[in-house]
Parts: sequence; C-alpha cells; structure tokens
Amino acid sequence: MKTSIGIKNENLAKVAEVLVQILADEFVLYTKTKKAHWNVEGADFYNKHLFFESQYKQLDEITDTLAERIRMLGHYVPATLREYLALTHLSEHHLESNDSLTYMKELLSDHESISIHLRENIENFAVTFHDAGTSDYITGLLEMHEKMAWMLRSHLK
Ligand SMILES: [Fe+2]
Repeated sequence: MKTSIGIKNENLAKVAEVLVQILADEFVLYTKTKKAHWNVEGADFYNKHLFFESQYKQLDEITDTLAERIRMLGHYVPATLREYLALTHLSEHHLESNDSLTYMKELLSDHESISIHLRENIENFAVTFHDAGTSDYITGLLEMHEKMAWMLRSHLK
C-alpha cells in the first residue's frame, strides 16, 4: 500500500536513497568496531574489549532503527555486504597494529566522517525534502556519533 505521510513520493525516494548510504556506513563501522572488539591486544585488553563491545552494540541498534526508518518511508532496505561495500563512504584499511590506540584512531576518524555527513543532511531532509521526521532522527543519530567519538577521542590525548 502507498505511503501517505504528507511527503511527495519523489522526496521519499530521495530521502531513502541518502538513508541507504548512511546505513552502509553504519554497517561498515559496526563491523570495524567488532573487529577491534575481537582482535585488540595489549595490557589494556579486557577493558578495551568491553569498551568496543559497548560501541558495537550502539551501532547495531543504529543499523536497526535506520533500516526500519527506510521501511517507514515505503522503501526496501539493501542488506547484502556487497551492496554496503559499494555504497559506503568508509574504507576498510589494513591496520599495521592491533593495539587499542590504533583501532581507536581509525574508528574515531570514521565517527567524525559520519558526523560531518549527517550534519550536512539535517537541513536537506527538513527543508529540501520536507521530511521533519527524518531530519529529527538524523539529528539524534548525529548526537550518538558525537558521543561515541568523544569516548574514543578521550583515550587519544
Ligand atoms: Fe564478544
């Protein structure tokens, strides 16, 4: 059945297109954070193992709410790793070391790059596409990334 929520179909499609790209970023960052959780080594292993777990759990929740938001707008959610890799802005570098600081620097840079991208779209969603709900949702998402970035950055002083 057609999605009639006061937003033109063409705008719903454009919003969904941007959300799908964001979902790809979130999925890649979720996987990179799991990699850190699994492979980190060093004297601070256990503490950082748990720290990365707390972050991947938040990212897991984000991918779920984001995918469900795409469905609310009447669009389907790509859910293959191949599609995520084709859509994401992030890259999967080979890291030279598996100590916690190396992982944290890499993850911080991804959270910051996602934050910049989200911030650029807040106004777009509200003003260009008349989708206040997604604009508000993306603002909340931005705040979650800002907090996760702060947690990472505070280890790197
Ligand atoms: Fe685990």
